[in-house]
Amino acid sequence: MKIVLLGYMASGKSSIGKKLSKLLGIRFLDLDEYIIEKEGLSINDIFKIKGEIYFRLIESKYLKEVLLLNENFILALGGGTPCYGDNMNEINKSDALSVYLQGNTSTMIERLIKKKAKRPLIASLDNDKIPEFVAKHLFERRPFYEKAKITIKIEGKKKKKIAQEIQEILN
Ligand code: S3P
Repeated sequence: MKIVLLGYMASGKSSIGKKLSKLLGIRFLDLDEYIIEKEGLSINDIFKIKGEIYFRLIESKYLKEVLLLNENFILALGGGTPCYGDNMNEINKSDALSVYLQGNTSTMIERLIKKKAKRPLIASLDNDKIPEFVAKHLFERRPFYEKAKITIKIEGKKKKKIAQEIQEILN
């Protein structure tokens, strides 16, 4: 069984993925962590030193590498992964099940104001610029996220509950 979790920055892909991994007893992988390990640089440093275009190229490359692994896993993508190259098609034509964690724009804004430091796309924005940035960004990205096979609404739900909901869908 292969599950790919996708959604905007701060939608809970990694923390829900870890919980689901415990529930199902299968390995958890985080594409950002995989990239950090392979490149020997933080995501912030990759953006700073090599630029976003380079990041998007290797993000696609490592995504394909992970999708081909011959084992069960839960993979948390980066927020932008579904929106570049043919990544979403690669995911949906693989034997993995894609799951979109969908949250309201206002929730994403609230969470990101608190957790922007590790996210190069927003780290340098003043807090009062974040709402407009996130609203526009989500408008552009939503069509890619909506290509996922399954959508789970995260609003008002505990992470554990969301993981259980995904588990129930799988049964
Ligand atoms: C990005 C999201 C990040 C990371 C990079 C770019 C994006 O992952 O891949 O900073 O384009 O939305 P998270 O969704 O885990 O923050």
